[in-house]
Amino acid sequence: MQIIAIANQKGGVGKTTTSHAMCAGLAQKGFKVLGIDMDPQGNFSAACGAENLDVSTIYELMRGDSDITDTIQSLKSGFDIIPSNIMLAGAEQELSQTGKEYRLKESIESVKKKYDFIIIDTPPSLGILTVNAFTAATDIIIPTTAGIFATTGINQLNITVKSVQKYCNAALKITGILFTRFNPRANISKQIKELTEQLSKYISAPIYKTYIRTAVAIEEAQANKMDIFNYAHKSTVSEDYKDFIDEFLKGCK
Ligand SMILES: Nc1ncnc2c1ncn2[C@@H]1O[C@H](COP(=O)(O)OP(=O)(O)OP(=O)(O)O)[C@@H](O)[C@H]1O
Ligand SMILES: [Mg+2]
Repeated sequence: MQIIAIANQKGGVGKTTTSHAMCAGLAQKGFKVLGIDMDPQGNFSAACGAENLDVSTIYELMRGDSDITDTIQSLKSGFDIIPSNIMLAGAEQELSQTGKEYRLKESIESVKKKYDFIIIDTPPSLGILTVNAFTAATDIIIPTTAGIFATTGINQLNITVKSVQKYCNAALKITGILFTRFNPRANISKQIKELTEQLSKYISAPIYKTYIRTAVAIEEAQANKMDIFNYAHKSTVSEDYKDFIDEFLKGCK
């Protein structure tokens, strides 16, 4: 089983969209999948139609106030989710005791054998919530747009990964970098391509061959609380996410 954190501290690079597509796509292939929303924004919970108000969320679970079976919701898309809501924003201050990095890892220990994949959507920061995701994870996938700020941030991300490897999770690895919101008409500039290739070497993680193209169907699907495959299974972007999932699975043992 693999636990994959989808991370990039740059906002709006497709972390939540990729988390949702991976959960739905892997579930369609027959895998048992759990999604975890580790972002107080709750975008992942909202996009997949989970209830995230007045229910047990990842926040209560990590505080030890809820049982994990009360936080898991089963979705029509065929996967389970542990939702979040804005209360999770307080975790940064509240999880201050010793062992705060391990809260998520410990929380999911009892259910992880039930799943083939656990996909964790992280917030656009490298704070304690992302560190909890990295401590629990076996793998990290970094979605990025082809912009200079999104790619240079990967360097900073790598410093956090190194620190988590050293203190909390030696087996953690960056599995790949995924280009999202890609516009084929505006080619990735030579400069960004070179920079990303250098980064890829530096962090010893490949760039996935599949690029996820920009498509309005993504926002429409999110507004309709549907996954991209059910909303627009013939769209270019659902083809891209299918290809990406196949490429990802080829890399799994
Ligand atoms: N391939 C795509 N084509 C078109 N729009 C996209 C695509 N991927 C993501 N988007 C849109 O871009 C915005 C940001 O995407 P998303 O929420 O997945 O990014 P994020 O990295 O999770 O953001 P945050 O850092 O705020 O959590 C959303 O409005 C989403 O609908
Ligand atoms: Mg997000």
